[in-house]
Amino acid sequence: MKILGIETSCDETAAAVVEDGQRLLSNAVLSSMDLHKVYGGVVPEIAARSHVEAISPVIEQALTDAKCSWDDLDGIAVTYGAGLGGSLLIGVMTARTLAIVKKKLLYGINHVEGHVYANFLTSTSLPGYHLPAEQPTFPLLALIVSGGHSQLVLFRDHFDYTLLGQTRDDAIGEAFDKVAKILGLPYPGGPSIAEAAKRGNPNKYQLPKAKMHGAYDFSFSGPKTAVLRLAQELCGQDYAFPSFKLAGLLNESQKQDIAASFQRVAIETVGDKALQAYTEFQPASVVIAGGVAANQELRRQLSQRLPLPIAYTDPKLCTDNGAMIATLGCFKATLGQPTADPYSLEIAPNLSM
Ligand code: KG4
Ligand code: ZN
Repeated sequence: MKILGIETSCDETAAAVVEDGQRLLSNAVLSSMDLHKVYGGVVPEIAARSHVEAISPVIEQALTDAKCSWDDLDGIAVTYGAGLGGSLLIGVMTARTLAIVKKKLLYGINHVEGHVYANFLTSTSLPGYHLPAEQPTFPLLALIVSGGHSQLVLFRDHFDYTLLGQTRDDAIGEAFDKVAKILGLPYPGGPSIAEAAKRGNPNKYQLPKAKMHGAYDFSFSGPKTAVLRLAQELCGQDYAFPSFKLAGLLNESQKQDIAASFQRVAIETVGDKALQAYTEFQPASVVIAGGVAANQELRRQLSQRLPLPIAYTDPKLCTDNGAMIATLGCFKATLGQPTADPYSLEIAPNLSM
């Protein structure tokens, strides 16, 4: 069973081929991130235009790297939500067209569900990938931490899951990106904060941890705003001072301490909820998925706090990629999940779990 996965929900144009839901044959990713850097965040129109230019070469690359012809493929899986409307459209229209022309089965994939399935990849002959030795087992607790999502989900089996909780405001990655912007650190903010935090004191500043009514819900806008207030206070400025000018008044060690203190609170927040869910549901395995799962400090702390070993996948498979989409597509195909109609599959920008 070989599935081509196509992912264009944000600023990565990605395609990959996965075999039998566990073997990674190729993983082509072209990011338009450099074009967004000057704006400090993803510009939807630029992302969509970049997908138009990149989608064909990226799919070609995925097939070439996998040494795979169209005849070898059993189906196409494509992200149809959640994500930016213009970006999703390019991937979905491409997949629909290819499914018709190449006579392939088509599977519509929920992007957030896809992130979890990156953890099911266990073998590859591609260089530079460190994959877990075994697939996770059910019941499975999934912590999804990305630029657009922060969710705790309990999977009893494939396609049988309950959303335990999610963010009420900013996603965790979004908060990393916004704090980086306040500190004048380059986009994307997650890796920049992680780098600055290495040289900072995580206990220097006591930022608030949100207390939520929903047992498993998160909030990251509180600590983010607390960083803004702290920066204003350190610079002797009030709310009327333009926030983009604060970074110029902070010194390096203040920035490093703020980055480390924010990262500590953000990681503690998701760690608290993951531990609480582990204690209540006693899952057989825990996976951490999404871009923020690439954070080494988060990996270290969660491994320390949770009572079972966590098999982290390669950081290249944590951020957006086609492999996670293809992997979930394989499971849909093998387990008899419904196919999508290539003449009518629509995008769903606000799709939830
Ligand atoms: O999963 P992803 O590629 O896209 C979404 O589906 O949102 O996640 C991107 C997010 C960005 O907010 C980025 O800042 C964050 O993941 N990120 C990190 C790290 N690498 C990427 N956050 C913290 N530490 C990292 N090392
Ligand atoms: Zn994502």
